[in-house]
Amino acid sequence: MDFNLTEEHQLIRQNVKEFCEKYVCPIAGEVDQEPRFPAETVKKLAEQDWLGIPYPVEYGGAGSDYLSYIIVLEELSRACASTCITVECHTSLAGFPLFKFGTEEQKQKYLTPLCKGETLGSFALTEPGAGTDAAAGTTTAVLDGNEWVLNGTKTFISNAPVAGVLIVFAMTDKSKGTKGISAFIVPAGAPGLQIGKHLNKMGIRGSLTSEVFMKDCRIPKENLLGGEGQGFKIAMMTLDGGRIGIAAQALGIAQAALDESIQYSKERVQFGKPIGSLQAIQWMLANMATEVQASRFLTYHAAWCYDQGLPYSSQAAMAKLFASETASRQTDRAVQIHGGIGYIKGTKAERLYRDAKITEIYEGTSEVMRMVIAGGLLR
Ligand code: CAA
Repeated sequence: MDFNLTEEHQLIRQNVKEFCEKYVCPIAGEVDQEPRFPAETVKKLAEQDWLGIPYPVEYGGAGSDYLSYIIVLEELSRACASTCITVECHTSLAGFPLFKFGTEEQKQKYLTPLCKGETLGSFALTEPGAGTDAAAGTTTAVLDGNEWVLNGTKTFISNAPVAGVLIVFAMTDKSKGTKGISAFIVPAGAPGLQIGKHLNKMGIRGSLTSEVFMKDCRIPKENLLGGEGQGFKIAMMTLDGGRIGIAAQALGIAQAALDESIQYSKERVQFGKPIGSLQAIQWMLANMATEVQASRFLTYHAAWCYDQGLPYSSQAAMAKLFASETASRQTDRAVQIHGGIGYIKGTKAERLYRDAKITEIYEGTSEVMRMVIAGGLLR
């Protein structure tokens, strides 16, 4: 067992860190506060070949492994969780189903522009009445000649306002339950597709999230992804990989909370000495560092399982569960260490505190992660 990252992994971490120092950190506060979508960063990420990291070069990807991708997400999130989630939804949630279930033609037409960063991808599963109970969606798709006609409303859809392509899940045969759900490739601009306005979120405010409305939305027959009735399986398998991505996002947030706390503990003087000399602070820092490292091991292990072709559903759920709850605890501690200043808008500790919470919710809540882990144990 070797706990060291390979030279290639160390190099990619170094490259992303430098990229973040130059382009992401300087605008992260503004992206959160305005809020605004960091379009200029996304363009630069495409130039670095970081918008299709785990996909083959023949489809415009970087042809790297999943761990490389996870390291990129971790470092992006350490700088700006909004930028991280934009890349994560695009790569894990839109890229994966196209790569894994797309025909050669679909991959050339839709995956390649995503990997090249010519457009962004989005994943539309959640509905007003179908969040954790993902199978309860009421969006329908009916075949009419050479076209599928989609009707329904999706909500909380990350990247939807900037996406060139959406992976949409809809019921094609209600009588078959989860086996009646199918996945579709819906290009932006499809007739009958309407993107709602940006939702005003507590955190990750620079990432765009909206409702998606489909009213007699017509797409070509060949835009069915995978077989008819395969949609639920496609969604679940996509989320298994995505959850490693959210674990990486949470890890980056927790590491940033630790970074900020260490720095502030050295600078802030009370009782005539830096607060870092007080045992109360030292114990908080020690707990934070331990939990961050444990999150990293779980997250990297899940990515390693993915790369080795081993089962990774439970590993991904464990990594997301632990890393997201760690992020919430660590950002709470970071605000506590910063005291009053950590409660003021514009400090990084305050932003991290708000950004952390969503990692316990999206791509499956902590409760769903426990369901998946327990399901694996009792199978
Ligand atoms: N891989 C492959 N197949 C899977 C699977 C997986 N990981 N998980 C389940 N399935 C299959 C099952 O084997 C079963 O198939 P059979 O009928 O052939 O046995 C079928 O799917 C149904 O499985 P369940 O009975 O377990 O399904 P369920 O309805 O009880 O749901 C659940 C289980 C785990 C709660 C699931 O609904 C779930 O994961 N919910 C959370 C949804 C979620 O994560 N949403 C996130 C939205 S996207 C997002 O957040 C994006 C963003 O903004 C960042």
